[in-house]
Amino acid sequence: NPLNSSSLVSLLNNSKCSVFCVLQKCDSSLWRRIQSEPELRDKFIPNIRMYVYNGSISMSEWNRLSHFNNPFGFMDFKVLKPKEPLLLPKPGRDCITCAVVANGGVLWRSKKGAEIDSHDYVFRVNGALTKGFEDDVGNRTDVYVHTSYSITASSATLQKYNYSGAPHDQGIKYVLIPENMRDFYWLTGLYKRERLTRGSYEGHSPWEFYSGQFNETRFYVLHMDFLRFVRNRFLKSETLNTIDWPIVRPTNGAFMMFLALQLCDKVSAYGFITENYKKYSNYYFERGAKTEVVFYANHDYDLERALWKRLHDLDVIHLYLGEP
Ligand SMILES: *[C@@H]1O[C@H](CO)[C@@H](O)[C@H](O)[C@H]1NC(C)=O
Ligand SMILES: *[C@@H]1O[C@H](CO)[C@@H](O)[C@H](O)[C@H]1NC(C)=O
Ligand SMILES: *[C@@H]1O[C@H](CO)[C@@H](O)[C@H](O)[C@H]1NC(C)=O
Ligand SMILES: *[C@@H]1O[C@H](CO)[C@@H](O)[C@H](O)[C@H]1NC(C)=O
Repeated sequence: NPLNSSSLVSLLNNSKCSVFCVLQKCDSSLWRRIQSEPELRDKFIPNIRMYVYNGSISMSEWNRLSHFNNPFGFMDFKVLKPKEPLLLPKPGRDCITCAVVANGGVLWRSKKGAEIDSHDYVFRVNGALTKGFEDDVGNRTDVYVHTSYSITASSATLQKYNYSGAPHDQGIKYVLIPENMRDFYWLTGLYKRERLTRGSYEGHSPWEFYSGQFNETRFYVLHMDFLRFVRNRFLKSETLNTIDWPIVRPTNGAFMMFLALQLCDKVSAYGFITENYKKYSNYYFERGAKTEVVFYANHDYDLERALWKRLHDLDVIHLYLGEP
């Protein structure tokens, strides 16, 4: 059942939740907006488990999660121990403003950099190139969302855009989407500082992909409950009813968006797919080169495009739509 504001506050006052929840004092909180919107009220779950961490897994939890299949299967990982909430209000402020920045071509020549950087927190995902694109996309990253696949693939394929590693601002928070066994191996190597001896990234040294900023106290792994919540309540593609179902899931950008919706009071979204996406190249760092936007079979871009537009029209997010 959805929680009303007062039960949400009492939930957040609950000491069990103190590590990962922030008592909400913001008058214009996004939760209040969502609670007042009949179309959304019953879909959001304020107290959904957001992260896998030490202590969140009991035997009954194991039994519950082990029934689910990939791509969000159970992963027993007891060493995960982020030490603080992902986001806290900035000193002297009650509300948290966030910019979530995807990599869409709509950002090329947008001049949105200063506006993006003016938010309390800037989230980025996947390629996330900023060097040379500061005027359009900003220069700061506070939260970086990735999978083991995206962080290794970016390193391999974005060299031609002068890619110099995933964002690694001082004190950055890293968020990993556990997709598959390969992420389990990745995390094992990352935490133990061991070169991988099996899985898709055999021979890789995971910590080297974080340019010295990997610190387990600032590393978060999204919980399968949260991933399934996003898919089942908002992005339930019809392809899930076909033989392809095991590979179909929301994009990393979609998980970043919902992470921000859970944690922020105001969410501005940039570089996400828009109705006029055909006007733009695939990625902003292609500098307007006429590339076809690539639709991968494992994502439902039509569904995501319609959802971002709907959330924008409902005044839940502010979506950058490009220049008219
Ligand atoms: C995490 O694990 C350590 C070591 O096993 C334990 O001392 C600590 O209480 C655990 N933390 C939580 C929140 O369960
Ligand atoms: C980002 O740009 C602002 C000015 O636009 C500058 O003050 C700041 O130092 C830059 N930050 C980084 C990390 O480059
Ligand atoms: C990469 O860096 C070089 C040297 O600074 C520069 O000449 C070139 O234009 C850059 N390429 C791209 C695609 O930004
Ligand atoms: C990780 O972060 C904690 C808390 O900020 C700090 O005490 C510790 O020294 C850091 N560890 C490394 C290896 O940088």
